[in-house]
Amino acid sequence: MNHEPLLRLFENRTGEYVSGERISQELGVSRTAIWKQIRKLEAAGYHFEASRKLGYRLLNVPDFLDVEALASRLQENVFGHSLNYFETVESTQNLARAAAEEGAKEGTLFLAEQQVSGRGRMGRNWVSPRGKGVWMSMVLRPTVPIHFAPQLTLVTAVALCRSLKRITSLPIGIKWPNDLLIDGKKISGILLESAAEDERLRYVVAGIGISVNLDEIDFPAELLAKATSLSISGGQKWSREEVIIEFLKEWEQLYGLYQDEGFGPIVTLWEALSVSLGRLTRLITPQGDIEGIPIGLDESGAIRVKLADGSIKTVFSAEMGEPL
Ligand code: BTN
Repeated sequence: MNHEPLLRLFENRTGEYVSGERISQELGVSRTAIWKQIRKLEAAGYHFEASRKLGYRLLNVPDFLDVEALASRLQENVFGHSLNYFETVESTQNLARAAAEEGAKEGTLFLAEQQVSGRGRMGRNWVSPRGKGVWMSMVLRPTVPIHFAPQLTLVTAVALCRSLKRITSLPIGIKWPNDLLIDGKKISGILLESAAEDERLRYVVAGIGISVNLDEIDFPAELLAKATSLSISGGQKWSREEVIIEFLKEWEQLYGLYQDEGFGPIVTLWEALSVSLGRLTRLITPQGDIEGIPIGLDESGAIRVKLADGSIKTVFSAEMGEPL
C-alpha cells in the first residue's frame, strides 16, 4: 500500500489528531489496514501517537538526506564524487571495503541513513539511528607506506574538527587519536581499516560517524555520561547535508596538503585543536596503563608522553582516560 495518501492527511497537521473514522472514509480502507500502515511508517522513522477516542497524530517526520543536492554539490570533488546512498545497512565499512577490493577509486563514498551493526574502535558498537547522524565510509588509496597509516586518522580528525567548528561554532576539540569531544563528551569517531601488501597500503577505508541530530533518547542510558550530539550541545538541529559537504571539502584539501607536504603541517593543526595535551592523564595501552602528561605528536602520529621521572615515552596505541 502506498503511504502517500495517508501522509497527505497529516500534512500541515503535525501534532493534531486525525480521527480513525476520517482516515478510513477518505482512504476507503479498514481501521486495521490503517493501523498496519501506521506501524510500517513508524518502522521507517515516522512517529505517531494513537488515541482510541481521537485517532492518530503525527509527532515526527524522519529526515532523509537530499542525495541529489549532495551529488550536485560534490561533482567537482574527488572525495564523494561517487556517492552510494542506502537507507539501512549493517555497516558502511563493509560496503566500502567490498568496493575497495573490487577496485573502487579513491573518494568513493558510502552513506547510510541508519546502520544496524555500526562498528566503533576496539570492537565496540556505534550507535547509528535513522536520519539523525552522518554515517559514512570512504575509500582512500594513499601513496604512503603502511606505517604512516595512523597519520591518516589525524588528518581526518583535523578536517572533521575544523569543519564542524566552522558550521556550529561549538567548542569542539580532538582527543588523541581520533575522538571529537564537546565538554568531554564524544560527538564523533573515526575508524580506519586498511589492507596492505608488503609495505604498501592497497587501500584504506575511513569510517566517520558524526552524531549530528541525535536526541538523548537515541543513546543507550549508559552512554549518556560520555556521548552527546551537536544538537544536544548546541540546542538546535543542523543540516546533515551541510555537515557532509563542508567536511568532505576540508578533508580533500587537507589530504592533498598531507600528500604534497607531509605530516608536518597536519601536526601543527592537530596540536592547535587538541584537548589531550598538557594535562596529567592515564593512558590504557595494550602493554598496561601509564600516567603522564601528553606533550605532542611524533612524526608517525604517535603521542609523546612525559612521565613522572621526566622521561618521554612514545605511545602508538592507547585509550586515553579523563585528565587526572
Ligand atoms: C570510534 O570512535 O570508535 C569510531 C566510530 C566509527 C563509526 C563510523 S559510522 C560509519 C562507519 N561505519 C561503521 O560501522 N563505523 C564507522
